[in-house]
Amino acid sequence: MAMYLIDLSPNDMQRRLREALHIYVDAMRYPRGTENQRESMWLEHMRRQGWKAVAAVQTGDPDPAAPGSATDPTEADLTAAPLLGVAYGYCGAPDQWWQQQVLQGLRRSGMPLESIEQLMHDYFELTELHIHPRAQGQGLGEALTRRLLSDRTEANVLLSTPEINGEDNRAWRLYRRLGFADVIRGYHFAGDPRPFAILGRSLPL
Ligand SMILES: CC(C)(COP(=O)(O)OP(=O)(O)OC[C@H]1O[C@@H](n2cnc3c(N)ncnc32)[C@H](O)[C@@H]1OP(=O)(O)O)[C@@H](O)C(=O)NCCC(=O)NCCS
Repeated sequence: MAMYLIDLSPNDMQRRLREALHIYVDAMRYPRGTENQRESMWLEHMRRQGWKAVAAVQTGDPDPAAPGSATDPTEADLTAAPLLGVAYGYCGAPDQWWQQQVLQGLRRSGMPLESIEQLMHDYFELTELHIHPRAQGQGLGEALTRRLLSDRTEANVLLSTPEINGEDNRAWRLYRRLGFADVIRGYHFAGDPRPFAILGRSLPL
């Protein structure tokens, strides 16, 4: 088995949407069926400015007898290869619910308006990052994040992640290793009882 990272065009994402949503549900250990609620949201996100998606795929072992088997997989191989992970994001904008929520939290926290403006005027939102449980813990999440952020021109990258006791999970360890710092802690998005952390850092990574 070999793993490769690829970019997903909007067409690729649309074609592989159900597969990507299954990775999300399995990675987050959400109940099956959650993907149905998310489908239209992920499609809407694809139309946002600066949308970019990347994926990790798994290709079969090359057949040593096949002609050209020692070479890298073709574009067609990668297009057909099953997904192991997916990540995407887009430019933050004032009409987005997430930005409005974060702004509300920042104002409540007492952050000076100038600092809020500096943080929020030009950022990439890392919206989703998920690796299938059987492929976690091998550096794929970090590799996908680096690929997703590699050519961004925004000043900052922001994300939200559920609060976990002692920051003791792979997502937290990854974000800290990549230099993400606290923006807001223990934040409650409207309609969600779970506390979240908003984390961010400047770009480039
Ligand atoms: C969070 C998540 C994306 C991280 O991806 P990952 O591929 O599992 O983890 P990383 O890329 O950070 O890999 C780090 C682990 O791989 C190991 N590793 C192996 N080879 C590595 C390499 N070449 N480079 C980096 N790490 C490597 C590290 O030792 C580390 O193991 P540890 O966490 O047991 O100490 C993934 O675990 C996941 O999908 N979790 C569930 C969903 C989730 O929480 N998503 C984020 C919501 S905000």
